Amino acid sequence: MEASPSTFLVFGATGRTGQHFVKIALANGHKVKALVRDMTKMKQQHMNLELIQGSIMDNEGMDGLLHDVDVVICMLGDAQQQQKEAINTLFVKRIIPAMRRQRVKQFLYQAGGFTRPYKEKLPWLTWILKNTVARRAGLLGQHKDNESVIEYLVDEAQDIDWIVHRACIIAEGPTKGILKRDQTKFSIATFGDCAAYNYGLLKDDSAIHTYDLSYYSKSF
Ligand SMILES: NC(=O)c1ccc[n+]([C@@H]2O[C@H](COP(=O)([O-])OP(=O)(O)OC[C@H]3O[C@@H](n4cnc5c(N)ncnc54)[C@H](OP(=O)(O)O)[C@@H]3O)[C@@H](O)[C@H]2O)c1
Repeated sequence: MEASPSTFLVFGATGRTGQHFVKIALANGHKVKALVRDMTKMKQQHMNLELIQGSIMDNEGMDGLLHDVDVVICMLGDAQQQQKEAINTLFVKRIIPAMRRQRVKQFLYQAGGFTRPYKEKLPWLTWILKNTVARRAGLLGQHKDNESVIEYLVDEAQDIDWIVHRACIIAEGPTKGILKRDQTKFSIATFGDCAAYNYGLLKDDSAIHTYDLSYYSKSF
């Protein structure tokens, strides 16, 4: 899917998965353009890293951001805001048409393990955890938003090479192994391992139009 070197447009680059993803992309010789709300939050500097100040809630400028971009990466979340409105869905509904206009085909979106797959139910134990642990943590809005992103991609964006990763992440920390894609198996991973997995997904054509989980096939 992804040819090297590419230009990645990253949303959520200052976040816990995003910071790792940017580092991996730059280390592999790619260019990264990142839309960030607060430039001081970006921990790294690099000649191939371009920061653009802004918010996904800004209505203008999508086409300009996509200029010379090969892949769009979303590791976005604002759980508080997502309790009130589906900001990621509204954003994805703007970026996908702009991608069509600018002829950008590849789109990777990180959702969560509690995010229900398209027209399916979660396994009962996951459902219980979602409705206790995730509810208490104020994450139900975020998962609802992620679910409507998946619905939109499946129903209205089959012409785009999108991939959704339903990540199960718990913490920062040293690598715990290599994550593999699966419809049902999952592991509680680190942000760094999830970012590395996301990067690898871009080279996996069989992942296009999937919204799978990830698990450690090899643990260190
Ligand atoms: N955290 C977890 O344990 C976990 C587990 C599984 C799945 N996920 C999923 O993975 C995704 C990313 O999670 P994460 O924990 O890596 O992210 P995070 O650390 O919460 O960071 C979220 C990122 O989104 C950015 N963002 C939020 N609202 C924005 C806006 N209006 N405009 C521009 N940027 C905005 C944030 O920018 P600022 O730096 O400016 O805030 C930050 O860079 C989410 O969809 C989440 O559901 C997370």
